[in-house]
Amino acid sequence: MNQPSTQPAMIETSKSDTETFYNDVIKGLKQTPKRLNSMYFYDAAGDKLFQELMDCPEYYPTKCELEIFSQRTADLANTMIGDGDAFDLIELGAGDATKSSYLLKYLQDQGVDFTYLPIDISANVINYLTVKLPLTIPGLKMTGLNGQYFDMLKRAAALSNRRKVVLFLGSNIGNMPVNEATDFCKELRHHLAPGDMALIGFDLKKSPKTILAAYNDKGGITKKFNFNLLHRINRELDANFDVNRFDHYPMYDPETGACKSYLISLQDQLVTLGKETIRFVKDEYIYMEISQKFTIMQTDQMAAHTGFRPLDRFFDNKKWFVDTIWIAE
Ligand code: AVI
Repeated sequence: MNQPSTQPAMIETSKSDTETFYNDVIKGLKQTPKRLNSMYFYDAAGDKLFQELMDCPEYYPTKCELEIFSQRTADLANTMIGDGDAFDLIELGAGDATKSSYLLKYLQDQGVDFTYLPIDISANVINYLTVKLPLTIPGLKMTGLNGQYFDMLKRAAALSNRRKVVLFLGSNIGNMPVNEATDFCKELRHHLAPGDMALIGFDLKKSPKTILAAYNDKGGITKKFNFNLLHRINRELDANFDVNRFDHYPMYDPETGACKSYLISLQDQLVTLGKETIRFVKDEYIYMEISQKFTIMQTDQMAAHTGFRPLDRFFDNKKWFVDTIWIAE
């Protein structure tokens, strides 16, 4: 996710990756209602579109969290440092580490004894960080871990028995429905020991118009970001989606805090994917993505239900976003 767009793609997709992608897509499109998994948004073109999205004036979450990391660096660091014992700073889905770099630089300048372990599903991202970060933050101790979050957390635990502080930024937790996000935090807790910490970035409930605008930008980047998955399916899975026969429909429900994105079929149509044919009726939708928004009370409840205690929280000036630090009990 959030892969640096300047890097050439160095990873080849293995047959089993393509098979898994195909099986997931077919399973999702045979379901009622139809759905596609937003984790597949992030191929090279999707990463580039996401970078563009983060620069859109309407898309505020990245800007809010960057403000927190750049303006509250010392406070974030001091909460993590706690009693001062050495720790491993693990980042789930590190991407280009723009936000966390503020923290890494600060900790390094203060002579804090820590090792940075970025985890990312993209080997390209890990290679990039392993080259870039030691140049920009001289002396930084780091070990990049390429793979699935929880597999790599296991690896991190095997590498050292130091205290762990896990970063999960960017409101990535919002791309899971609340029950799945709760299960995710339970599993995260399972990989940690009492006294370890998690810093999680949550996008907060706010004016529904502000939220909807962020997922319905005037420049149409979010629409392209959604359509890119259909293009990807065409390219990689021998399919024939015609994006002109679909419309992008984002909506936000202030009651549940769910911001959802759909693609609506503009006509009755058949789409083939390899040897499968999928029928769409006019106005039928594909559910593409959830970007859940939270109240502070919900984040505290999630901590309590998953074996953590809220320790500290950091807001941007508008109080649109929170980075909350939890301690494992
Ligand atoms: C990566 N994730 C937190 C973004 C979000 O806000 O849900 C993905 C995104 N989708 C549309 N715009 C941004």
